Amino acid sequence: MPGPESPTDPSRVAERAALEREAARRIAPDPGLLSRLAEVREHLVRRASTEANHRGIPLRRALVAGSAARGTFLHERFDIDLFLLFPPDLPRERLEAEGLRLAEALLESPEKHYAEHPYLRGRFEGFTVEAVPGFAVEDPSRPQTAVDRTPFHQEYLSEHLAPGQVEEVRLTKQFLRGLGVYGSEAKTAGFSGYLVELLIVRFGDLDSLLRAAQGWQLPVRLATPGSRPAVPDDVAMIFDDPVDPHRNVATALSAESLARFILAAREFLRSPTLAAFFPEPRSPLSLAGAKERVQARGTHVAVVRLPRPSLVDDILYPQLRKAERSVGGEASRLGFEVLGTSSVAGVKDLWIGIETSSGTLTHVRVQHGPPPGLAHSEAFLAKWTAGTAGILQGPYIRPDGKLAVDVAREEIRLEPLLSEAAPGLAIGRDLRESSKTGVSARPLDGVDDTPEIAELLDRLLNKRLPWNRS
Ligand code: UTP
Ligand code: MN
Repeated sequence: MPGPESPTDPSRVAERAALEREAARRIAPDPGLLSRLAEVREHLVRRASTEANHRGIPLRRALVAGSAARGTFLHERFDIDLFLLFPPDLPRERLEAEGLRLAEALLESPEKHYAEHPYLRGRFEGFTVEAVPGFAVEDPSRPQTAVDRTPFHQEYLSEHLAPGQVEEVRLTKQFLRGLGVYGSEAKTAGFSGYLVELLIVRFGDLDSLLRAAQGWQLPVRLATPGSRPAVPDDVAMIFDDPVDPHRNVATALSAESLARFILAAREFLRSPTLAAFFPEPRSPLSLAGAKERVQARGTHVAVVRLPRPSLVDDILYPQLRKAERSVGGEASRLGFEVLGTSSVAGVKDLWIGIETSSGTLTHVRVQHGPPPGLAHSEAFLAKWTAGTAGILQGPYIRPDGKLAVDVAREEIRLEPLLSEAAPGLAIGRDLRESSKTGVSARPLDGVDDTPEIAELLDRLLNKRLPWNRS
């Protein structure tokens, strides 16, 4: 018999079930909205084919897919995904042109956006619609664009996702959203909507998923036996797409997001709360608060600024994270002890925060040399002659028998060293231009008190698990 502490204790199971039903009730879409949505879906698909006919646009088929087709959406992210499918032999440039032309005819106030390829976002009968052109391929394992598998996903889920599981999908999305790990966009690096639906098909409901997930270890392999999705080694989760076994549905999910979910599953099973689904927004650290923390920690914080290039988020964020790693790596290489880094994409600037044990290096640097007897040692002694400016001690012989000399560093402060190193850092290709000219690194005393800086410092100095609030 499971004890009262165990997640499978009947009283615990009942407590969680009650909370889950309450959370599900709070996020349930209004029945009026659902029936209106069903009508609008129909109008949208019908209008797409009549408009295509009138204008001689070679549309094969229009379909509404994604969460608006299945009722698995969350209110905050609600929009209708309309896929406009063209004959597979249509040239790629024509696909984009015809797709956009049709979408423009269909939608009010259309705006062009770019993902892997362009799509239009606009309004239709009071709803926001994203119209995405793609190819009507026969075989989903041979897509020509990233969206060509969509009709097959739609078909798969309509067969495998039971009507009772629609609510569980929404509930799971809400749980993930509470943790900040819902959404496959690069900024979030979380679970995509389709992955959540597949997880519910696999595990049945949120509670069963959480019970399985609490024991997961990275990388999590949920591939069906016999399938071999092609994945790089550093992937956090492997879940093959049922309509294309070579595709990993979880590619966008980062190790950090998945680890957070695993730990949150364990936490919720032991102490279920409604706040897991609806957390209070946390207030970021103020500049003054950050300074106090740095004081108490006896450390040093520098803030690096780069001008923000105009890039879409999905391209920008991976490059910003790469720049963050490079700044941390460079500081270590220079001889600083790095405790942590953080980054924020602001409106006009990109920010990288770095905490080191000290803001300066020692004045003296030990330059190691070769053992005497090697030809090499002649050059060392010629270069470092006793008494030359900049030599603080030596040259001398170390206990291991090798030559060394103590030299003075010209610059010992982290900020000028980082600014100087910036042009040579391995950072994202689109950030390289701005890193050549616009990088400045400043100590905490030199930064302005803005919400962007507050966010940056919060990520650097206020790390914790989401359910530990204080
Ligand atoms: P969405 O990202 O809009 O997901 O993609 P969703 O299921 O509607 O979830 P939310 O509620 O908006 O967050 C819609 C559909 O597009 C396909 C998937 O089949 C998904 O169900 N898709 C999306 C792809 O096939 N490839 C992609 O790269 C993106
Ligand atoms: Mn969607």
